[in-house]
This record gives sequence, structure tokens and C-alpha cells, in this order.
Amino acid sequence: MPRFACSDRVAGQASAALLRLNVVGIVQQSGAHIPKIRIAGLRHEYRDRQTGASVLALDRVDLDVLPGEFLCVVGPSGCGKSTLLSIVAGLILPREGQVLLDGVRVQGPAASRGMVFQEFAILPWRTVEANIGHGLELRGTPKPERAKVVSRFIDMMNLRGFEKKYPHELSGGMKQRVAVARTLAADPEVMLMDEPFASLDAQTRITLEEETVKIGLITRKTIVFVTHSVEEAVFLGDRVAIFSRRPGRVKECVQVPIPREQRVWNDLVSDPRFIEARDRVTRSVREEVLAGGRDLDGARPHSSNLRH
Ligand SMILES: Nc1ncnc2c1ncn2[C@@H]1O[C@H](COP(=O)(O)OP(=O)(O)OP(=O)(O)O)[C@@H](O)[C@H]1O
Ligand SMILES: [Mg+2]
Repeated sequence: MPRFACSDRVAGQASAALLRLNVVGIVQQSGAHIPKIRIAGLRHEYRDRQTGASVLALDRVDLDVLPGEFLCVVGPSGCGKSTLLSIVAGLILPREGQVLLDGVRVQGPAASRGMVFQEFAILPWRTVEANIGHGLELRGTPKPERAKVVSRFIDMMNLRGFEKKYPHELSGGMKQRVAVARTLAADPEVMLMDEPFASLDAQTRITLEEETVKIGLITRKTIVFVTHSVEEAVFLGDRVAIFSRRPGRVKECVQVPIPREQRVWNDLVSDPRFIEARDRVTRSVREEVLAGGRDLDGARPHSSNLRH
């Protein structure tokens, strides 16, 4: 894989993306071709301190994400997707290579990069509104201003009436909406979402996917979204990056040629552009899963890679 294989493609598509993004007012023309996130030559190996055994999770990962872009990442289980997000979030320092945010090297966690984790990550001892306002509270935002922001997210996430409830009183979908709202309310420049809807029922998932499209358009955030569902990736993303089996690297990127304002499930499922992109991504992921034989973690290739 040549360095910046995906980056070059992004640069080539930048003018088309610019045009589309500007139509919906997502980014200003100036600087839009400069990546918001640049991932260069990334390699990460986990080492077991006691046994000395190592697992190479990521190798030679090069990927650019444009300002305001919604990038989805798919790939076989264990190929390093969560590791990649943790590195971009600054929670893990890579063994080799680097991540640049606006040209500045990421060296640790920062409020500018909000993460929604693979498991529910809300504080069980805090109410819905206290969870949503948590990031603002940590930042010292005055109470009246915090209340206004929290109220806006309660409405955006359809959580009105549940402000004073605790997480154990909520459904799975509600908990995940609180987790998304909590990250968004802290107003990060970049949202990193790791399979946020994986554990939800199909209907809730579709609703949240449609809400995520709207949130992306309203907030203009740069979003990196990891999922096992190819349909979800193609529904949400401007572009889908397909990772190889472990050690994960970018196998190819597929552009989804449908403006994000047109992403409504009922319209899209029969749209030939959607079907074509979905089939292409499915084939590519399937190749990786099958080429792995047994999954490298010891699991059989599982259907959730192709599900939804
Ligand atoms: N903290 C850790 N210590 C040691 N090995 C780890 C650690 N975290 C992940 N790994 C290993 O690194 C590899 C990549 O893991 P990662 O969780 O990034 O994959 P993933 O693509 O997110 O998988 P999934 O789709 O199942 O969530 C796996 O082989 C995993 O076992
Ligand atoms: Mg993962």
C-alpha cells in the first residue's frame, strides 16, 4: 500500500467534496482541502508485560479526514478499529507514526476530540441532564449557560421528560443518545464514534442513524465512525474506509455519491447509488474476512461484518 493512498484520493476528490459541502454550508472554501485529521505511517503493537507476547494491531495506516467530513471505518473484527480511534483520541500513543489534528501532533487526550465508546459510557450516578452537561462542567462553563446547552441537546435527542432520570431507568437507545449528547455538548471539533449503535434494536438504530445524519449536518463536525454494519457505514458516511484484517491498514476507500441531506432510510434502500456503494464495500470487507479464514482473534468470521 503506497503511503497516503487514501490521502491522494481525498485530495483528488476534494474539489467535488468542496462543492457538495459548500452547497449545504458545511465548510468554508478556504482551507477545506487541508485535512482536519492526518494519520501517517501509523503502527501499533500491544505488548504483554508479563509474557512478552505481542499483537500487531495496526500497520502502515495512512488516512486523511477532511474538515466536516463524515468518515466511516469498517473491517473484520480485531483489525484495530478501536485501537485507531483511541490513538486519534490520544488515549493510546502509537509505537510508530503520528496523528495530526489541524497539523498539530496528537500527544494525549483533549476536549477537542470527543469519543463515544463501543460500550455505553455514561456515568450511572448522574442524571440524564447531569451526564449531558458533564463535559461543560469539567470545563467550568457557568451553570445558566450549561443549562441552555443541555436543554438544546435534550430536545435534539428526544429526551425531554427524562432529564432527571438515572441511566438504569433508561432504555438502551436512550442511554446511547445520552452518550452521544454528552460528547456533542462538550463541543469537540472532532467526534470519534466506536460502534455506538451496535447493541440497539433495528428500529432504534435506524432512528439514531437518521438523527446522526442530521446532527452531522447541523453541527458540521468532522466525524470518524466505526461500525461493523456496511449498510450503516454507507448510509452515514461521505466516505467509507475499509480496513484489512489484522494488522489493520487502509485497504481502500469508497466515496458515497449521495448528498448527506438526502440520507433517509426509506428513500435510500432502493437508490442504485446506495446499492452500488454498499455492494462494493460488502465485497471488499468479505474478501478480508474470508482471506483471514478463522478470525485472527480465534473467532470465526462472523456475519455481523455484513449485517444490517
Ligand atoms: N489493551 C490491549 N492489550 C492487548 N491487546 C489488545 C488490547 N486492545 C486490543 N488488543 C488486540 O488488538 C487487536 C485489535 O483490537 P481492536 O479492539 O482495536 O479491534 P477492533 O477492530 O476494534 O475489533 P472489534 O471489531 O471486534 O471491536 C486485537 O487482536 C485485540 O485482541
Ligand atoms: Mg472495536
